[in-house]
Amino acid sequence: MDKFVVRGGNPLLGTIKVSGAKNSALPCMAAAILTADEVVLENIPQVRDIETERKLLESMGAQVELGYGRAQHRTTIQCAILSDPVAKYEIVKTMRASSLVLGPLVARTGMARVALPGGCSIGDRPIDLHLKGLELMGAKITQDHGYLQATADRLKGAHIVFDKITVTGTEDLLMAATMAEGETLMENCAQEPEVTDLAAMLIGMGAKIEGAGTSTIRVTGVDKLHGVRHRINPDRIEAGTFLVAGAISGGDLNVDCCNPEHLAAVIQKLEECGVRMDVGKENIRVRSEGGKLRAADITTVEYPGFPTDMQAQYMALATQSEGTSTITENIFENRFMHVSELSRMGADIKVQGRTATVRGRTPLSSAAVMCSDLRASASLVLAALVADGETILDRVYHIDRGYEHIEEKLRGVGAQIRRMGDVFGKK
Ligand code: UD1
Repeated sequence: MDKFVVRGGNPLLGTIKVSGAKNSALPCMAAAILTADEVVLENIPQVRDIETERKLLESMGAQVELGYGRAQHRTTIQCAILSDPVAKYEIVKTMRASSLVLGPLVARTGMARVALPGGCSIGDRPIDLHLKGLELMGAKITQDHGYLQATADRLKGAHIVFDKITVTGTEDLLMAATMAEGETLMENCAQEPEVTDLAAMLIGMGAKIEGAGTSTIRVTGVDKLHGVRHRINPDRIEAGTFLVAGAISGGDLNVDCCNPEHLAAVIQKLEECGVRMDVGKENIRVRSEGGKLRAADITTVEYPGFPTDMQAQYMALATQSEGTSTITENIFENRFMHVSELSRMGADIKVQGRTATVRGRTPLSSAAVMCSDLRASASLVLAALVADGETILDRVYHIDRGYEHIEEKLRGVGAQIRRMGDVFGKK
């Protein structure tokens, strides 16, 4: 298993580029199921979850060519024939977003079999709302041998009010509705930029969608969708992670190729902490040289509020801020797994229920730490950038799920970080 070795203390200086958003790319790849034509996606990030999605689509009969290294990270997908509309357990267990194929598969083939996702390290993540919506659209759902099966001759438009805001649930049902008979009205939808990105792609394929990016989406079903060329949005969470990296290291970092509009809540919070930000059209310059960081509270909420996917990274910053920061996690249960590792590095953090109280500033010291999930791993990398000595991060496959070559990007702006295949001599 790969590890990162990070020596802290260097301020990050220069320009760091943001890749395409993994969480946009995953639903957009799933949307290719909706047409027999070729779909071309640009700015697909080179991360493990995308490789998993490729395997998933190929296992169903799709042809996928991940064009890394080529201009624009261009990927082509063609689902001319979907001979096996099944999302197998071996794939679903490593990536819960596999449930995104449910809606498009039923819409296109009339049948989908998707393995039940099972437990997840950041809490119970059910897909009941995806299923409820499909049922309202006339699908018959059954369960056997650990698999869910959805069948429908043709889905029918429905009025769906989400009990709870769900990002992939909104995306899944949006895809299903594009080819349903009649109109679908979805309320209490997720408003995340990834939903808007997917809707833009679907509209390019001939779908009739109004209101994506608001809480109410109206879809008029069409008989057929066609191929499209679509460019994936920049990754707002990767960009936010780099903003914290610039701030925590006391650097002067230009975070380039991002969309600052998608980062308003993060920018506002970092400014409250005393971080200097110069916001351009597609870049943000972050500076904290000499300036002290101040504590500020955050509460994670759905977009446009402070994202749960930035909570762990923000916590690393809070350990370096003067004063007490209260961090409340409202989206997922059990999303504080980075706390024990940050504490081992010297952080003063107390957790009670969904709230963590961070007292700062505490000097951090290097340690051997374990990555537990994607964003927790990012938080440990950030902490390691300011820790005294050499931190060894184990299980970095978690970070490889969603960050494109993070160690190379950080090294390019002055961080001392390297990947080791097997530093302890055991796999
Ligand atoms: C997506 C993102 C993830 C992010 C999360 C919240 C992708 C691939 N992943 O995950 O990075 O952290 O949004 O912004 O885009 N829920 C139910 N029933 C359902 C679905 C969800 O109860 O059927 C609950 C979940 O347990 C959770 C909340 O709703 O408490 C939000 O989850 P959801 O928005 O669905 O997260 P994901 O789409 O899985």
